[in-house]
Amino acid sequence: MKDVRTTGQRKRVFIRTYGCQMNVYDSDRMADVLRPLGYSLAENPEQADLVVLNTCHIRERASEKVYSELGRLRDLKVERRRDGADLTIAVAGCVAQAEGQEIIQRQPAVDIVVGPQAYHRLPELLARAARQSDDRRADGRRLPGAGVLDTEFPAESKFDHLPAPSAADVRAGSAFLSIQEGCDKFCTFCVVPYTRGAEYSRPATAVLQEARGLVAAGAVELTLLGQNVNAYHGEGADGSTWTLARLIRALAEIDGLVRIRYTTSHPRDMDDDLIAVHGDVPQLMPYLHLPVQSGSDRILEAMNRGHGRDHYRRLVDRLRGVRPDLALSSDFIVGFPGESDADFDDTMRLVDEVGFASAYTFKYSRRPGTPGAALGDQLAEDIKTARLAALQSLLGRQQRDFNASKVGTIVPVLFAEAGRKPGQVLGKSPWLQSVYVEGDADMIGRLVNVRLLAAYALSLAGEVATGEAPPRFEVAA
Ligand code: SAH
Ligand code: SF4
Ligand code: F3S
Repeated sequence: MKDVRTTGQRKRVFIRTYGCQMNVYDSDRMADVLRPLGYSLAENPEQADLVVLNTCHIRERASEKVYSELGRLRDLKVERRRDGADLTIAVAGCVAQAEGQEIIQRQPAVDIVVGPQAYHRLPELLARAARQSDDRRADGRRLPGAGVLDTEFPAESKFDHLPAPSAADVRAGSAFLSIQEGCDKFCTFCVVPYTRGAEYSRPATAVLQEARGLVAAGAVELTLLGQNVNAYHGEGADGSTWTLARLIRALAEIDGLVRIRYTTSHPRDMDDDLIAVHGDVPQLMPYLHLPVQSGSDRILEAMNRGHGRDHYRRLVDRLRGVRPDLALSSDFIVGFPGESDADFDDTMRLVDEVGFASAYTFKYSRRPGTPGAALGDQLAEDIKTARLAALQSLLGRQQRDFNASKVGTIVPVLFAEAGRKPGQVLGKSPWLQSVYVEGDADMIGRLVNVRLLAAYALSLAGEVATGEAPPRFEVAA
């Protein structure tokens, strides 16, 4: 790694992150790659020499947002050039991977398009873009084919070439750790297998080393990330293959690591040992995001999910058997092509039967290149809107009931930030609920016992419980 002092000039980068937590992790890694080149983080594009949009392609709205933002950045760039300065614009993430060169055609002000597997090559791409930028200025106009593109899936893993995370990657005691990337499942609605490529698991030793580094840098909570995190099958030091369950057991040995979470899981990959881990590793938080998408067997089949509603119900029962206080969350898609009223009723019934503590709900969005986009019987917008509203209302009630069920108990809260009102701090309960109390900024990054006093739709209010014994979790040993 080059020393900042030897690279001279101080520059600023602004990174805007869209989409999932893996993009949040990647944005931090990009900042780590750019730091040795002299870049520090800017608060907004106006302060920056380089702007990176780390994009999401999952739904149409998500990718269209990128182009309106690029229009604004182009104006900023034109302004800068008028003053004899410049602004470098880079598009990273899943839109970069999916649309590649098309982005530069649609918005010629873009200098760099870089896919999610090529972030370790950013320094080289920036150097190439700078050369092109010089050529362009001499020429007075944009050269044909200008703009630097890297959307390869390189043979080398970016993880082996990215700098180790630093204290800057721990936010208020919590850090993300990507352990798995890509997806081989090909659900018929989803772009991820195309934008992130084939499933890849990082070696267990690399994950453990990164985890120890993050804990040493102040993390008390780690969230293991992967598009299919529970399909993890990384190589262990002895050459054997480690599952997610084994990895969690090893992570639980790290002194000072008090909370472990993982996301996102697929129902097909919840194996016996992983279920058991929920019962016997107390550091593993009693919250699981396990997307089911639909409650109709017919739709699940058309989505190529590889599981039915009964499989999901059985998993939930077994998980609650070992961890009775487990809170479940899920993603749902309404209005998949061909979804009838009866199919939608099946989804509502499944929600009713399972009971979710939180959920993300989406209207089906037709994504180019996915098998779902080619299906007949695409549903009208107003049907999707009505179903979404009905589902959200049911899930909203469940979330409020779940929050209310915790009132009167004392729970450890990891404080993350200042609350909206002065004198308030906001943190997360073990069940990932937002909890706010009256308190000082010095609580941020710490676990503090809180007595929960009142529940609302999306949060709980509490007070610091001083002098109380730390609460014990129900773990059925
Ligand atoms: N790997 C995870 C989810 C990745 S995408 C899993 O398998 O569950 C996050 C969520 O976006 C998905 O769970 C799905 O609910 C939603 N999603 C993906 N593609 C979509 C589309 N075309 N339209 C609407 N929602 C979609
Ligand atoms: Fe997309 Fe399905 Fe893979 Fe999840 S499992 S990332 S929804 S293809
Ligand atoms: Fe979006 Fe890519 Fe994540 S499409 S949800 S940023 S994997």
